[in-house]
Amino acid sequence: MSGTGRWEKAAEAYATGEHKAGRELELVIEYAAPTGKERVLDIGTGAGHTALALAPRVSEVVLTDPVDAMLATARRLFQTAGLWNAQFVRAGAEQLPFPKASFDIVTTRLAAHHFDDVALAMGQVARVLRPGGVFIFVDTTAPEDLESAAYQDEVELLRDPTHKRIHTERNWAAFIEQAEFRVEKSEVVLKAHDFEPWLERGGEDETTQQRVRTRFLEAPASAVRDLEIVVAEGKVKSFTDRKLVLAARR
Ligand SMILES: C[S@@+](CC[C@H](N)C(=O)[O-])C[C@H]1O[C@@H](n2cnc3c(N)ncnc32)[C@H](O)[C@@H]1O
Repeated sequence: MSGTGRWEKAAEAYATGEHKAGRELELVIEYAAPTGKERVLDIGTGAGHTALALAPRVSEVVLTDPVDAMLATARRLFQTAGLWNAQFVRAGAEQLPFPKASFDIVTTRLAAHHFDDVALAMGQVARVLRPGGVFIFVDTTAPEDLESAAYQDEVELLRDPTHKRIHTERNWAAFIEQAEFRVEKSEVVLKAHDFEPWLERGGEDETTQQRVRTRFLEAPASAVRDLEIVVAEGKVKSFTDRKLVLAARR
């Protein structure tokens, strides 16, 4: 599918799909512990679900994403919700167009596996967050087993060519600590995915989707175990991955 159409379809799928909710989103609010006065930056906002959850609890949210179709969808969801304390800024995580120490809370949920340069992005978060502010990071973790980790990246990339890399819990934390953050707390939660809607959200054509289905049906035993792949009557039904939710300060 061509560039813009692909993103518009993906933006719509993000608006209504499983990103709307989840234990990991509840933990973002819990870890951020907003008092109502904060200025928040959400990086890789997609359809804006993390920012939407925070907006009624803070002073202002700034939503960033490099894809215009995502920002347009997020803007629509904010309007529908009657929330007006938001700004929408096109930007990648690696180059945030904001002054030093301009936010009290920075969040990024399920976006870092798309980043071109995670270390650079974490350095940018450290720059724009005020001293003492909190950074909430959420993303999928890779299994420690090398075979199933490689398989997970392979099928994620096939299903969505904008996928870059899923890191282990330890490696995500290392990127954050290298940006001189101190990890305060973290939790790993399970997230089950209905297979077909997950595949559809990737936005690829039917031929590619069929290749992903086939790769799931022939998954190595390590991946069937680590990703809890469920097959019934010759069809992939679901799989389950793990989301790291982490709060850090500088
Ligand atoms: C799964 S969506 C994010 C979901 C969203 N954070 C939420 O909580 O609902 C991933 C987003 O990462 C964005 N993205 C891709 N590359 C990026 C980059 N280099 N920097 C920031 N965001 C990026 C994509 O455009 C997409 O909107």
